[in-house]
Amino acid sequence: MDKLIAGQVVTYHGNPFEIPAEEAVQVLSDAAILIRDGHVVSIGGRDHMRAKHHEAEFFDHGPALIVPGFIDAHAHYPQTAMIASWGKRLIDWLNTYTFPEEAKFADPAYAHDIAGRYLDLLLANGTTTVTSFCTIHPGSVEALFQAAEDRSMRIVAGKTCMDRDTAPDFLRDTAKAAYDESKALIGRWHGNGRATYAITPRFSPTSTPEQLDALGRLWAEYPDCLMQTHLSEQLDEIEWVKGLYPDARDYLDTYEQFGLVREGALFGHAIHLEPREIAHLKAMDCSLIHCPTSNTFIGSGLFDMGARKGEGFRVGLATDTGGGSSFSMLRTMAATYEIGQLTHTAIHPAQLLWLATYGSAEALHMQDKIGAIAPGMEADFAVIDLASTPAIAQRAIRAETIWEEVFPTIMMGDDRAIIASYVMGERAAL
Ligand code: GUN
Ligand code: ZN
Repeated sequence: MDKLIAGQVVTYHGNPFEIPAEEAVQVLSDAAILIRDGHVVSIGGRDHMRAKHHEAEFFDHGPALIVPGFIDAHAHYPQTAMIASWGKRLIDWLNTYTFPEEAKFADPAYAHDIAGRYLDLLLANGTTTVTSFCTIHPGSVEALFQAAEDRSMRIVAGKTCMDRDTAPDFLRDTAKAAYDESKALIGRWHGNGRATYAITPRFSPTSTPEQLDALGRLWAEYPDCLMQTHLSEQLDEIEWVKGLYPDARDYLDTYEQFGLVREGALFGHAIHLEPREIAHLKAMDCSLIHCPTSNTFIGSGLFDMGARKGEGFRVGLATDTGGGSSFSMLRTMAATYEIGQLTHTAIHPAQLLWLATYGSAEALHMQDKIGAIAPGMEADFAVIDLASTPAIAQRAIRAETIWEEVFPTIMMGDDRAIIASYVMGERAAL
């Protein structure tokens, strides 16, 4: 049965980093979206659409804002239960908190439990697609893909590969196991329903050159998979990489030598880049994933959004759970704004919303399927209350424009602002 979902609908008409933000991103008040078979058919005025499609089931969200479902372009679902762990920087944080937790995913029942919990937390936060690292255990990947399939969610995931003695022995595979197990998971999940496989070396410090080479060969065999890893997150990490790969020209070169730098590569953080790295990443049309709450929480540094968007990069937004301190893409947009201020770029609320949806979709090469509300797109939406708490409501009520009304929810909103999440046109249980 057709559905009509009514509210204030956000639509995109261009890139808000190239044309004026309020032209690129528009809010249609009193609008409705017609949905058939999980896809958007058309968008129009509420009364007109109701009269024309009187047979459709009608869901009225009144003045709430209907946006494309948020897309979290970099996360570690196995870190769900250790989010907000105190007092460490990247390398100590990995050794103290992260690796012991990831070891628990050797148990498929634990992986199943956390995968379901994680995706339900995302839906409660209006996030309908995530790109996640798993652990070295193939069962951790099975668990996430299965949990996403059970919820009809579009998902990107991969087995995290680590074979170097820099990682603890209870959390290491080998170059061959990484290749074989990733390949088997690609066969089972890549392109299966809404699933996409991302070949996933954790980062060069925890892989041998042999493993990076094996994963580069695997990617050449399955070129339409994505590839996700970390790049230049902390200065200590960059020094470490230089010591481990003395012949590399820079951090990016440790991936480049093995065929891991091209379109479809997703580089998390990418904060402290050399001019050569920026030029090559751009020439190869790689995606950069900004993880703002993580970059402040772990003390990594300031990603220069203004510069990277000015250079025309695909940039996605991400929580980086559990290095990031929130599951919420609203909170992630707020942190993007704050880091923008520290790098002298006032990022417009329309740009923030676009980054968390279309920008992430573009980074994942999925902008023809998700990330916008337009005919033919998959019907994944978040419905947002613009007055979800007394603090937000008292500010929003005196707004003179829609963007002045939206901004307090971006800066102060959380899961209480999410009225509903729709996945393929179906309202998810929150
Ligand atoms: N670099 C390598 N692994 C990780 C991780 O799990 N989280 C973050 N933030 N950075 C990493
Ligand atoms: Zn990460």
